[in-house]
Amino acid sequence: MHQYISEFSAHVGKTITAKGWIYNIRKSKTNLFFELRDGSGFCQVVVSAEKVGEAAFAQAEQLTIESAAAFVGTLIADERQKGGFEIQADSFEIYQIAENYPLAQREKDLGISFLQDKRHLWLRKERQWAIMRVRNQIIMGIHDFFQAKGFVQMDAPLFTGNSCEGTTDLFETDFFGKPAYLSQSGQLYGEAMAMAQGKIYTFGPTFRSEKSDTPRHLAEFWMIEPEMAFYENEDNMELMEQFIKSVIGRVLERCQTELKALERDLSKLETVVNRPFAKVLYTDAVKILRGELEVEGKNALKIQQADLENIQRLIQEKTAEIATREAAVKSGTLKKGEKAFYEGKIISLQGELVDLNEKLQNIPKWIESAKNFQYGEDLGSSDETVLTRTFDAPVMVYNWPASVKSFYMKELKGTDLVKNVDLLAPEGYGEIIGGSERETDINVLLRKMKEHNLTEAELEWYLDLRRFGSVPHSGFGLGLERLVRWTCNLPHVRETIPFPRRYGRLFP
Ligand code: 4AD
Ligand code: MG
Repeated sequence: MHQYISEFSAHVGKTITAKGWIYNIRKSKTNLFFELRDGSGFCQVVVSAEKVGEAAFAQAEQLTIESAAAFVGTLIADERQKGGFEIQADSFEIYQIAENYPLAQREKDLGISFLQDKRHLWLRKERQWAIMRVRNQIIMGIHDFFQAKGFVQMDAPLFTGNSCEGTTDLFETDFFGKPAYLSQSGQLYGEAMAMAQGKIYTFGPTFRSEKSDTPRHLAEFWMIEPEMAFYENEDNMELMEQFIKSVIGRVLERCQTELKALERDLSKLETVVNRPFAKVLYTDAVKILRGELEVEGKNALKIQQADLENIQRLIQEKTAEIATREAAVKSGTLKKGEKAFYEGKIISLQGELVDLNEKLQNIPKWIESAKNFQYGEDLGSSDETVLTRTFDAPVMVYNWPASVKSFYMKELKGTDLVKNVDLLAPEGYGEIIGGSERETDINVLLRKMKEHNLTEAELEWYLDLRRFGSVPHSGFGLGLERLVRWTCNLPHVRETIPFPRRYGRLFP
């Protein structure tokens, strides 16, 4: 048996065997310092000529990045090392010497398009490793939360005969000669299952043919959809808040190493667990966006204006720093190492400038869009960003105009609104959950189906739910990858799933 890095604390001072891959190499004349990764963590391994002998040392010198080996040696606790341990090798066995590894450089220096092509290898990088482990804890946290509350996990079909969320982004496929769609949402089936079990949740893949490359859209993503009999939208919102707090709390408890590797600002996540989520009517959200209503003295448009000024200042500072460093490099007075350091710094500053300039272009457009937002419109992604910047914790925006929402949402009597809610994540991440109370009146449903071009024939089975023991019920859908993205503070949803499927990406 060998020992996993994650369990090293139980073996300090003993002779252990670690098996893994070489993540990094530093050399001196008589010592090799390997950073070993074994899937469970990262650890320094020292191979010294003195200890293993000249012949074995020469062999160890052959080890390249991503070569696989087993090391036998004494395990030392060492605070200064990543992970807190060091193995002083007595012997080793090589599984394979890796070819020249294409991803040996830092992620930052490899370029996103290349990394995506090499996703099968990219997954081994420490950041990606950390993200997948957070994703794993989120998944387990979701199951634990619902199971503890007596929900039954049930699966909705993936081949469906009808749409749920509108027909624009359906993937059509051939089902024994008949057209079928890949599921956009398991909700309608969830409603049927909730009438059998009381409280259920689905956890499955979902498909939407989003024909644009945005940081928040995948073509294949995982959705968690609880559905509860006898819940009104107020109960739905209460559950949603408890749910997010519970899952984020678990990540904070169990993923300290991962969040550190991701350089996540923990205070932002702690706020989510400790503060009540704001509940804002759609009509008030419109006013906040337009700068007509302030949130605890904060004005959404003024925040953007201040961001803009801050960005302009940063651009000036960074441009000046690049100029100073370029002059120093040109002067020829720098030592060799210093020169390389300056050149590296210039490249990373230029990268930061690209991001800042993009924001400089975008923010005025965001302000314009927010200022001119009209009652009755759907919130665009920039509107969500502007709105959520005025809150520290997630915001629930509820009771939206029926015209921009799905057919099944319950009408709010005497208004043009529905009893629904979108949960928007802070820090500009926007919608991660959409939910609602469901329409129970069969006549209203029939009218809405017509308005949405849905035929009675395809939803006959769904209408039965209103004929036999129809009761108030509610539910919501959480996009797993959006939650992972926000929790890990990632620029794009493509890093939140092992092998993303999205517009323009089918391989690897
Ligand atoms: O808001 P949506 O469309 O709601 C539904 O599908 C409802 N049937 C849910 C329900 O009430 N049971 O989608 C729910 C969530 C969104 O808030 C978002 O997090 C995620 O699914 N989502 C996507 N995630 C990644 N890529 C996409 N293309 C997504 N589309 C929606
Ligand atoms: Mg939605």
